[in-house]
Amino acid sequence: MTEQGNRKSSNHWKSSLGFVAAAAGSAVGLGNIWKFPYIAGQNGGGTFVLFYLLCIAIFGIPIMIAEVMLGRTTQSSPLRAFQRLSTRNYGWQFVGLLGIFAGILILSYYSIVAGWGLHYLFLSLVGGFPQDNNPQAYTDLFDSLVQSARLNIWWHSVFMAITTCVVLRGIRGGIERFANWGMLALFILLGMLAIYASTLSGFVPAVKFLFAFSENFTWTSALEALGHAFFSLSLGIGVMLTYGSYLQRHDDVVGTSIAIAIADTVVAIGACLVLFPIAFSVGLEPSAGPGLIFINIPLALLQLPFGRIGLLVFFLLLLLAALTSAISLLEMAVAFLIDSLSWSRSVAGFTMAIFIYLLGIPSAISGGTGFFGAGLKQSLGMTWFEGADYLASNWLLPLGGIGISLFVGWQLNSHQRLNEFSNNSRIGSLAWLYSSWLLIIRWLSPIVITIIMLHNLGVF
Ligand code: PHE
Repeated sequence: MTEQGNRKSSNHWKSSLGFVAAAAGSAVGLGNIWKFPYIAGQNGGGTFVLFYLLCIAIFGIPIMIAEVMLGRTTQSSPLRAFQRLSTRNYGWQFVGLLGIFAGILILSYYSIVAGWGLHYLFLSLVGGFPQDNNPQAYTDLFDSLVQSARLNIWWHSVFMAITTCVVLRGIRGGIERFANWGMLALFILLGMLAIYASTLSGFVPAVKFLFAFSENFTWTSALEALGHAFFSLSLGIGVMLTYGSYLQRHDDVVGTSIAIAIADTVVAIGACLVLFPIAFSVGLEPSAGPGLIFINIPLALLQLPFGRIGLLVFFLLLLLAALTSAISLLEMAVAFLIDSLSWSRSVAGFTMAIFIYLLGIPSAISGGTGFFGAGLKQSLGMTWFEGADYLASNWLLPLGGIGISLFVGWQLNSHQRLNEFSNNSRIGSLAWLYSSWLLIIRWLSPIVITIIMLHNLGVF
């Protein structure tokens, strides 16, 4: 391959640590802090958590290696990466295009949930929570936010504006710098909250809940765990491919992929170890669903000592996590425009940001009674927001995962694949590791993901 070296150095990470920070920043997001705790809670804890960890190890890390490798080898954005390595086969390019579409769609609704976080950060700052400990008041507070088009659009605008500013500043000055500081701050904030949570009476029951075997683990829970492993590691849509394309020849793909997956998992488990003790300490169940962090956590924390500071720290953490993920999604789409149309970063950045912003409006008003909310729910059973999440997480991500897996497993030149895997990596040069990885990306992951998708379709 001679594609290497056709990028200016400003288009590469300054250090491999910068790459790990940015990629871990992409992985660690609302998925870890908002979604993982509530689905772990709903699926009964222990067994679900264990199964999720297995999915990360068996499917997540190998596909992450494949994706980062594809980016680094081609030094290109998703669509170009597939074009370069499969000149005559348009089917593969479709995988790249699908990923870009999925990324754009995800960011359009991700920004709405992040906006709720911004609103709650604002409420924590100004002390805007109900004064009494009445659960209904907290539910009403959240419901009125979800239903308010004005508030949703406002916070969606603020969140997209911050994300765009970082992406416009480029790889080194924008994304890498923000990720280095942001991830450092995120781990400090999470550490502070974990220490706080460990002093609460609910800590021991929470640990038991999280690690003990549970009964209500079903076949559907298994599917949910696998799908979430993809979402949480930002896999299957070309985000890791794009970030990998800013790596240099000497960077280690295998070691960094493992580090990213570990960071992501630590935050997901850490978030549970913060949220569950808080809920348990005031007698609330962790199975509250999507409202867990917006209803139960403020309700519980404000009854506990130092609760107001805790709440502020928590929503700051959520914002940082959401921002570094949103940045990676926007960057992937912007890199696609820059690469395919040779646009400048500012033109591509603005155009893409505005497009995604507009696409997010229907999600922003999905909580209302209009067409995109109650209207679609009545005719199709899902609001626009729910439909976008369903389509992206359950279909586009796994499909992209299969595509990337098969492409790297079968299409990439075998000599090149082996070189890329073992390059500069002590772990990567282990022969048994390479063959297990190849087995997973060639056979195991495409087969298992297909079974899951067929099951989702109701085929069996
Ligand atoms: N991994 C992010 C999270 O856990 C979401 C994400 C998915 C980001 C896909 C980029 C690509 O919140």
